[in-house]
Amino acid sequence: MARWAYVNGRYLPHDRAAVHIEDRGFQLADGVYEVVTILDGRFADMDGHLDRLDRSLTALGIPWPVSRRVLERVIRELARRNGIHDGAVYMQVSRGVAPRDFRFPSPRPSSLVITTRRVRRWAQPGQLEDGVPVITIPDIRWGRRDIKTTGLLAQVFGKQQAAEAGAFEAWMVDPDGTVTEGCSSNAWIVTAEGMLVTREPSHKILNGVTRLALLRLARAAELPIEERPFTVAEALAAREAFVSSAGTFALPVTRIDGHTVGTGKPGPVALGLRRAYIDDVLRGSL
Ligand code: PDD
Repeated sequence: MARWAYVNGRYLPHDRAAVHIEDRGFQLADGVYEVVTILDGRFADMDGHLDRLDRSLTALGIPWPVSRRVLERVIRELARRNGIHDGAVYMQVSRGVAPRDFRFPSPRPSSLVITTRRVRRWAQPGQLEDGVPVITIPDIRWGRRDIKTTGLLAQVFGKQQAAEAGAFEAWMVDPDGTVTEGCSSNAWIVTAEGMLVTREPSHKILNGVTRLALLRLARAAELPIEERPFTVAEALAAREAFVSSAGTFALPVTRIDGHTVGTGKPGPVALGLRRAYIDDVLRGSL
């Protein structure tokens, strides 16, 4: 089956889709992106992702490339053309094509690139039975991590370090010893006292769309919740740990830097929130 991509107004064969060499996304990482999951044919929280795209674009002063309504239509059409039943849509908006200059160019159309990816299974064998390992690394990113920018070198290095250590994710740690988030996920723990803890939204983390949905589900289940920073030591003493993101939903973490978390097996809070989140998507209520 042919694979299509969408680039600046056109559906193109994926292997021939390209942007201009002076696209500011390509040269300066002057752009933002979103990843939306498609689960059993349903888009998970499209509104939440488009809301955040709007916040990222506004923060950087990049105009919408097309209206929100048109963008949503194009996303759905591309997924349809590519026959994606389970997978993800990647969309990227940059400040457009202009001669290389750090300063903003005169107003011009933003660039829009959309691709899709098929996902065969949402968790690898063993991940839900045993949990996944994470490592911790210093957080060396810039000061506006709330913007979902395509400038991802710190995360590229973090993920590579994790892969070389045999870990699923790297949790980034601020100089004060608190965990900010994973390279492509938010970080959570359940303390020994049963408190669900995840860092509060600020410039220090990306406010995950999945994070917000899980918080709503946790509140509905009347779990005790604290939105605050936690240290690596606190995570090591926790009953449970997990990560959240568009593609992982809630995924249990059972080892941090080689140390076992809790019983060493996925716990009920992480697995329960994962189930509740997936059920909500499947019901179409997200
Ligand atoms: N990453 N924190 C960071 C740094 C992220 O890159 C992501 C998502 C998240 C979780 O956000 P959400 O729940 O909205 O997916 C948190 C995506 C999946 C990516 O870069 O592929």
